[in-house]
Amino acid sequence: MYAIIGGTGLTELDGLEIKGQDKIDTPWGAPSADIVRAQLQGREVLFLARHGNPHRIPPHEVNYRANIWALREAGAKGILAVNAVGGIHPDMGATHVCIPDQVIDYTYGREHTYFQGDIEHVTHIDFSYPYDEALRKLICDKAEALGVKHSNFGVYGATQGPRLETVAEIRRMKRDGCDIVGMTGMPEAALARELDVPYACISLVVNPAAGVSENIITMEEIHEAIDQGMGYVKLLLAGAGGR
Ligand code: HPA
Repeated sequence: MYAIIGGTGLTELDGLEIKGQDKIDTPWGAPSADIVRAQLQGREVLFLARHGNPHRIPPHEVNYRANIWALREAGAKGILAVNAVGGIHPDMGATHVCIPDQVIDYTYGREHTYFQGDIEHVTHIDFSYPYDEALRKLICDKAEALGVKHSNFGVYGATQGPRLETVAEIRRMKRDGCDIVGMTGMPEAALARELDVPYACISLVVNPAAGVSENIITMEEIHEAIDQGMGYVKLLLAGAGGR
């Protein structure tokens, strides 16, 4: 059974036949919302709204540790995480779907590890390839089959937020090799790896990142892209349910 973490624009997933909701507490505190148990295209899935339902927790205040812990506790054998991102790569404009294969972490001050406090030994997880290849392939194959405009690679730059970036910050990220920029990709991916839960990202581009287009970024354009693009993401998720 796999789990979906819904981000901005995906607080609820239509097509989900809800079977129940579990309030799960963890040693790290409470997750963002109840874990929804549901059927999607005849398969059992778990669903968690990353920012709470209703959407109220900003990216830097999400309890990522509790979220991943609770999903594992609920029985998740893999996690498909959805996020809204800005596009840096010229081919990744609004409504483009990117399934990243790498990440650079620019966040700070977040609770980012389970290996903290009273632990028996220090563990350094391997994170060379931060996303699970089998899950990535599953999503990429579905995107291909459904004709959803997507990239099967990409470097996700995770920023602290909640503000958007400056033009110079995006220029630097581009030099670093980032293709997309978002605020929720880390530490989520690393925490999943620490718990050994396979994890992949489906990133929907909802605006060109700062300075990529000549215009400043408006919430209006973001909402428009979300309205259109989340339709594609939902198709992918429903398709992946056939696994
Ligand atoms: N930057 C960071 N996070 C984002 C953006 C962006 O431009 N768009 C959506 N999430």
